[in-house]
Amino acid sequence: MKQIVTNIGLLAGVGHEGKRCLKGKEMAQLNTIANAYLAMEGGRIADYGAMAACPGLAGVEVIDAKGGAVLPSWCDSHTHIVYAGSREQEFVDKIRGLSYAEIAQRGGGILNSADRLHEMSEEELYRQAMRRVDEVIRKGTGCVEIKSGYGLNTEGELKMLRVIRRIKETTRLKVVSTFLGAHAVSRAYKGRQGDYVDLVVNEMIPAVGAEKLADFIDVFCDTGFFTPEETARILEAGAAYGMRPKIHADELASSGGVEVGVRHDALSVDHLESMTEEEIELLLDSQTIPTALPGTSFFLNMPFALGRKMIDRGLPLALASDYNPGSTPSGDMKFIVSLACIKMRLLPAEAINAATFNGACAMGLSDDYGSITRGKVANFFITDPLPSMEFIPYAYTTPLVRRVFLQGVEYK
Ligand code: NIG
Ligand code: FE
Repeated sequence: MKQIVTNIGLLAGVGHEGKRCLKGKEMAQLNTIANAYLAMEGGRIADYGAMAACPGLAGVEVIDAKGGAVLPSWCDSHTHIVYAGSREQEFVDKIRGLSYAEIAQRGGGILNSADRLHEMSEEELYRQAMRRVDEVIRKGTGCVEIKSGYGLNTEGELKMLRVIRRIKETTRLKVVSTFLGAHAVSRAYKGRQGDYVDLVVNEMIPAVGAEKLADFIDVFCDTGFFTPEETARILEAGAAYGMRPKIHADELASSGGVEVGVRHDALSVDHLESMTEEEIELLLDSQTIPTALPGTSFFLNMPFALGRKMIDRGLPLALASDYNPGSTPSGDMKFIVSLACIKMRLLPAEAINAATFNGACAMGLSDDYGSITRGKVANFFITDPLPSMEFIPYAYTTPLVRRVFLQGVEYK
């Protein structure tokens, strides 16, 4: 059945037909139409335009936006929302002066989450993850990437990836999955990092590949975690099963992650808090989309990625939440957009494009998601009436999302 959203105060993110992602100056173009309608059919966007040109409403389901804005759903291209329990004790340790890296060196951090995950049933893990999924959908997220990486053994990684598959199957949210066995060396392999990399390559990747559980492969390529050489080996093993890289690079130090990512045609390199200007140049010659995670910089009190510089050099930029129990326990993409404006000096239009269109691109989904374009999936949200698009990051804690639609169906 046909559906039409009427009385849209501002329809944002329209057009950009045929584009894979938005780069440089294009990122400041957030095309909007005031007093608009949006037509859908079969869960996809059929048409849109000015309210004055709205087609007849007979026999059509009408959704009255009551003057609110309509935006394409947030596309959150980097999360770890499947995890067991929480780690607020480490939050307190950080307030008392320990750094994220020091907590990890003492055997805390990711290894704490792995211990909890091993004790938890798959059912309970799914239940806890679904609470977070529900939370982010209500905040306007319509596409999400979810990583494994708290199993750190074959059984645990498969358990996480099966939970991610179940989320794919049981919600209208668009989900892509990433295998992150090389997130940390497990307790069982302490002091035997080489053997752990062998386990990832020889056992975990073939097992994940056999069940086709992952679309992408990730490595935490950073000081104190995995080296660029280990990363290259893991990415090559993943490529044999069709998993394209999306990697954690330059969070704690400029450590070669961008270079190894570009060399292996990574879809994205993410974090980049410690990136250098030379790495910006490397990205210019690639198809790899840099992704900033300003929530992590905020929560860990670390530098922010050079987002302004990357855009000024003509690069595309995506923004994602990194929702995880250690470095940023939040999936609030509106807050991410605000942080990018306030701390990275992105214009509101650039930040909104980075969190929608370019986020979709960083998941390989921009043909179908990320903008209000004819033929794309009807994933969008309706806000309270807004004075302007700039109001969204400006009102940085005001909840503005009123109704959410995924595949043209309202989420209640
Ligand atoms: O992206 N940096 C590596 N992984 C996550 C944090 C994981 C955790 O601390 O649980 C991140 O920040
Ligand atoms: Fe991460």
